[in-house]
Amino acid sequence: MTVRFAVVGCGVIGRLHAEVLSASPDTAVSVLVDVDAAAGEKVARQLSPVPPVTTSLEEALARDDVDAVAVCVPSGAHAEIAVAALEAGRHVVVEKPVDVSVAAAAPIVAAAAAAPVGTVASVISQHRFDPASVVVHDAVVEGRFGRITSAVATVSWWRSQDYYDSGAWRGTWELDGGGALMNQGVHTVDLLLWFLGTPVEVTAHTGLLAHERVEVEDTVAAVVRFESGALATLHATTAAYPGLSVRLQVLGDAGSAVIDDDRLRYFHSRELASAEAAGDAGVSADRGDRSDQTALVLPDGEDADPAHGPMFTGHSRQYRDIVEAIRTGGRPGVTLDDSLLALATVQAVYESARTGATVRVADVLRAVQVPAP
Ligand SMILES: NC(=O)c1ccc[n+]([C@@H]2O[C@H](COP(=O)([O-])OP(=O)(O)OC[C@H]3O[C@@H](n4cnc5c(N)ncnc54)[C@H](O)[C@@H]3O)[C@@H](O)[C@H]2O)c1
Repeated sequence: MTVRFAVVGCGVIGRLHAEVLSASPDTAVSVLVDVDAAAGEKVARQLSPVPPVTTSLEEALARDDVDAVAVCVPSGAHAEIAVAALEAGRHVVVEKPVDVSVAAAAPIVAAAAAAPVGTVASVISQHRFDPASVVVHDAVVEGRFGRITSAVATVSWWRSQDYYDSGAWRGTWELDGGGALMNQGVHTVDLLLWFLGTPVEVTAHTGLLAHERVEVEDTVAAVVRFESGALATLHATTAAYPGLSVRLQVLGDAGSAVIDDDRLRYFHSRELASAEAAGDAGVSADRGDRSDQTALVLPDGEDADPAHGPMFTGHSRQYRDIVEAIRTGGRPGVTLDDSLLALATVQAVYESARTGATVRVADVLRAVQVPAP
């Protein structure tokens, strides 16, 4: 069964969704929707077959060849589109962040709960599907690093003033929901929670240090304490010229790993080292930065899509998971609860920076009576 999509929002990421969906034999693009017809037409011309374009979501949802809706509009408009799609009986795939606040995202949770059994609602967090992320997550779950004691996460990027000036919604609380952490860093927050578990409380500072005409922060430094007792530092900036890497260190009392720009740079497990020393072929205690890393990190022989780049590959991998969930009625790899927890953590960072107090993540979730995941 081909899953047929309406892609709503045809900007930077909507174009990527449309290309990924039309490139796979498992999916198709039935219609493109954008309030700006020219934006929709521009993307349509890149696709084969060329899909119809409309400025009306209602018109797209009235079609009988739309099984699912990809929500690729500015973050603060995600809920409006996703709720309409769920109420019209469609599966939804929402770009990250799920919306700009837990309160704004709550109607999606309610609409998904009211939808028929088997309706899939997933949120894009494509880095969960990077082979390096999967290797580290599996190692954490299998106890290969022992007790996870801490993590260091940094998103050290550069975004020019032109980037913030390129869309009226960028850098606004209403539609972007935040700055370096909400827009650029939420992927890393999601990975941090995937590896370390439930966050309990956050203490943070934010600053706007290298940009103008922006309401939100371009730099964040925070400390997160987890239910397990583990501690993490979380840093995100769009003010690190010329743009360095995204790096996540996961550190345990029996092993550690480092992911840098989506690649496994370091991996060591004491338990695997013992097995290796005992001659147990087939295990490997040290995995990062080795000549066979490509084979290890990319088990199915895939690398970044040569024609489109790594972002295309990340979205393709996540769409494979979503299509599987739609076909089998199973749970997608990234659920609404997952995305709400990441969003609540980002909000807790902002509230802590604003008030100077330590903020409990559960209080941010409870504020809108969304059950804590
Ligand atoms: N997963 C990722 O790595 C990734 C990367 C970039 C952006 N994003 C997310 O994707 C979303 C869009 O970002 P972008 O950079 O593509 O923005 P963009 O400004 O390039 O594109 C947004 C498009 O949505 C259209 N639009 C606005 N409101 C609409 C509405 N109500 N109905 C239909 N169309 C509407 C606009 O006309 C525009 O064409 C954001 O939530 C952003 O956080 C995710």
